[in-house]
Amino acid sequence: MEQVQSFITENKQRFLDELFDLLRIPSVSADPAYKNDVILTAEKVAEHLRNAGADKVELCQTAGYPIVYGEKIIDPSKPTVLVYGHYDVQPADPIDLWTSPPFEPVIRKTEIHPDGAIFARGSCDDKGQMFMHVKAFEAMWKTGSLPCNVKFMIEGEEEVGSNNLGPFCIANKERLKADVVLISDTSIIANDCPSIDSGLRGLSYVEVEVTGPNRDLHSGVYGGGVTNPINALAKMIASMHDENHHITIPGFYDAVEELNAAQRAELNKAPFDEAVYTKDLNIDAVHGEKGYTTLERTGIRPTLDCNGIWGGYIGEGAKTVLPSKAFAKISMRLVPNQSSDKITELFKNHFESIAPAGVKVEVRPHHGGEPVVTPTDSKAYIAASKAMETTFGKTPIPTRGGGSIPIVALFERELGLKSVLMGFGLDSDALHSPNEHYGLFNYYKGIETIPYFHKYFAE
Ligand code: BES
Ligand code: MN
Ligand code: MN
Repeated sequence: MEQVQSFITENKQRFLDELFDLLRIPSVSADPAYKNDVILTAEKVAEHLRNAGADKVELCQTAGYPIVYGEKIIDPSKPTVLVYGHYDVQPADPIDLWTSPPFEPVIRKTEIHPDGAIFARGSCDDKGQMFMHVKAFEAMWKTGSLPCNVKFMIEGEEEVGSNNLGPFCIANKERLKADVVLISDTSIIANDCPSIDSGLRGLSYVEVEVTGPNRDLHSGVYGGGVTNPINALAKMIASMHDENHHITIPGFYDAVEELNAAQRAELNKAPFDEAVYTKDLNIDAVHGEKGYTTLERTGIRPTLDCNGIWGGYIGEGAKTVLPSKAFAKISMRLVPNQSSDKITELFKNHFESIAPAGVKVEVRPHHGGEPVVTPTDSKAYIAASKAMETTFGKTPIPTRGGGSIPIVALFERELGLKSVLMGFGLDSDALHSPNEHYGLFNYYKGIETIPYFHKYFAE
């Protein structure tokens, strides 16, 4: 292990330069304008895997963006780790709010990252975290210290729902045979407080369209006489939470797994400083479902949030118009044992039932995903825990992540594989937001920790 760690130290600058090169390519999967860049990124990732020593490196074509595959089988009798990550990123908008251009990575110091952080879209989610695995593999392979077999599956459509990864997994069961899936695409509590997510929320995402009169109207001539779709939509959205911030969709909570008092107490042992939380977000209070702590609200409770809302006139100045249509994008985060399809159906029925007279509504489902819970007593979890303990000097705390990686449930269902969510980001790293960044501490800590995972897992 000493050789691996000195290889990492000797190659620190190159590891950073290579990540910078990847971050310069705007691999935004949601926007077709970036198609060539997304594909170029896949090619670069493949090249990095090859240079690191991986065999059978291939861009596997799908109906969407390619999946980068590579492997190193040192001994079929040894355990196999399947590394999953994604090379696509979220759109950079709103661009104006970035301090430096999103695809020109720079290092700046912050209060939380006094040693500096890499500012760029995808630095944390997930190019930076995915690339740690490529570099850790390189360090293990080139120093003759790889203790087990490794397979890589890096996709380019995570941020748009991983629609083509499921079919790929089903069609490639033999090739993807492994003992565990290792993923770095989540957060730790703090740099001096490591943690491992033992679960992720699921997702149901819908778009709604509310149509009133057949055309935009003069808001003076017709105002007061017809239902305004924006007013109606606002009221419908507001009505979906009651005064205790419970969601009012009938049946919404039916399948929700309630944790017992001991499980809740365990979850709330994780350090959480409300003052730090509110200060970081510049808000004067936290908010959420009555009877639950912030850690519970964001980890083990389902939610309903409006992600975007539009309609009418939003240009410069004022235009007195009563719009024909209003739209919103709404996400629901789900917990065990809610089903994404079922919740989407409940939402649709409810939304249609609360539409006031004078408007028609349409609900269009987007992607979804199932929640997952990962074991904390498995050989793989224990290996991850020991690995982090070795490099952080503290035992990581098991936590529940609020975000979603829908494909994790599919790995379990289709490949029979459990995942370990050994992420190294921070929730405050501005994922999906302007000025996304990833601490240099976190990048290098990840590269140092991953070889220990392989070592302990292979033992
Ligand atoms: N890496 C995130 C998920 C995440 C972030 C989990 C932080 C836990 C902590 C992933 O890239 C992501 O953004 N997922 C999407 C879902 C997807 C279907 C668009 C999400 O959670 O919104
Ligand atoms: Mn991610
Ligand atoms: Mn993401």
